Amino acid sequence: MTVVINPDFNPVPSLDRQVSVSVNADVENAGAVALFVSAEGELPAELAASFDRDSLAAAGFLGKAGQTLVLPGSPLRVLVGSGKGIGTEAQLRDAVAAFTRAAREISTLAVDLSALVVGDDAISVEAAAQAATEGALLARYRFDALKSDPKTVQLERLTLVLTDEAADLAEAAEVGVERGLILARTASLSRDLGNTPPRHLSAVKFAEIAQKFGPQFGLEVEVFDRQQLIALGCGGLLGVNAGSTEEPRMIKLRYTPEGASDETAHLALVGKGIMYDSGGISLKPSNAMHAAMKLDMMGAGAVFSAMTSLRELGATSIVTGWLMCTDNMPSGSATKLGDVLTIRGGTTVEVKNTDAEGRLVLADGLVLATEEAHRPDAIVDIATLTGAAMMALGTRTAAMLANNDSIAEQLQAAADSTDENTWRMPLDHRYREQLKSDVADLSNIGGQYGGVILAALFLNEFVDGTPWGHLDIAGTMQAEGDDLWRSTGSTGFGARLLAEFATAFEAPEKN
Ligand code: BES
Ligand code: MN
Ligand code: ZN
Repeated sequence: MTVVINPDFNPVPSLDRQVSVSVNADVENAGAVALFVSAEGELPAELAASFDRDSLAAAGFLGKAGQTLVLPGSPLRVLVGSGKGIGTEAQLRDAVAAFTRAAREISTLAVDLSALVVGDDAISVEAAAQAATEGALLARYRFDALKSDPKTVQLERLTLVLTDEAADLAEAAEVGVERGLILARTASLSRDLGNTPPRHLSAVKFAEIAQKFGPQFGLEVEVFDRQQLIALGCGGLLGVNAGSTEEPRMIKLRYTPEGASDETAHLALVGKGIMYDSGGISLKPSNAMHAAMKLDMMGAGAVFSAMTSLRELGATSIVTGWLMCTDNMPSGSATKLGDVLTIRGGTTVEVKNTDAEGRLVLADGLVLATEEAHRPDAIVDIATLTGAAMMALGTRTAAMLANNDSIAEQLQAAADSTDENTWRMPLDHRYREQLKSDVADLSNIGGQYGGVILAALFLNEFVDGTPWGHLDIAGTMQAEGDDLWRSTGSTGFGARLLAEFATAFEAPEKN
């Protein structure tokens, strides 16, 4: 097989991107400045001199959240609607993202945060600086590594302005900026990996990337090839790989904080890394959904990316990552319907649909996670697992299931602060009987309804009672168009969420 791939192709351009973000007492010759304008009340003084509400309305600008109106001049002034006002970090991230998109030709931007960070219902200056940084960098993200003539104007400088009373808060703002830069890089890295075409990012290539970049971010990286997976008895990962000409890889990552001991909390993260999901013998139809299946590794992408941030964010728990990587292809050697696979640890699974492959590769990873000598206090897996999650919750909210309330709450807190929304669904054991098989311990599919829950119940069989959370990001992996901080293509969903979750992780009571 000979194909031509540009030898200079860099699948992780976001790791090289430099944006300078500074905190300043004035606007310092930026190319564009944001002016937040609410839907009601007084206009900001500098606008009121030349405009009233009616003249802005005549230009179509009502101050609704997300609306923008660009006033020509140098600098460009960009009115950014703030609706009823900006009261949360998510609203600020969105507002700065809207500004950044409106000023798409401009490489130096400025946003005055002063009014948002002082007063009674102010946003903490640290959270505000972080959210503003993320909003600008994520909105300007574009995957153009394969374009001969990329048109995106790169963001070079973002100035966060703190004046008057807010000027004293500069030091705290710098901390937020630092976190924002780390998390924007984390999400962008995950987007890069998702957007990279499947032949450019095979399981083997992903492992090479992890080996090259993991150590730079303080991670130990161990890669398991086909022979090693056979020795480990990873029948799920090998069974899914059986139809492919590309080798599978399991990538194990470890972050160990300074001064760690046997008492240190331990979190395991398991990611679905289907580099391309054709469905296998249960072949998917050739439609837009199928064409998006290079993104079926976004769970593994989120785990890898999140883990690159842990040292810089000062995470104090040990975190182990398991990336279960292969593509899912039909061929003469592919797993057939009715085949029975033996998962690591001995559980047998009848494959009744080769397109329900994510749970098969995750099962091996979950079992391996539970077997660690220093047992994890919790396991969280993340996967583009079911179309049912997309049907149930749409493209903005991921499904979350857990066998432990503390894990669910910690995941929800990270979801709230990152605006990577999750909604908890029930792990209803009454559906468990649908996973019975006549010939094996389990079937890999249940009935027609409740697909999110059935998939989670399948995974639950492999966690050995460990406190566990599950994120089904099938609906949220992709944005069909530019939308505030989400740019067309891979959203990077889960990378910031897991980074925040792992950094704040506290071991729950045992189940
Ligand atoms: N990767 C898909 C799930 C998916 C669907 C992700 C749409 C993103 C968008 C997964 O492997 C899959 O095919 N799931 C099946 C499971 C079914 C056969 C039980 C599905 O959802 O149809
Ligand atoms: Mn599938
Ligand atoms: Zn899949």
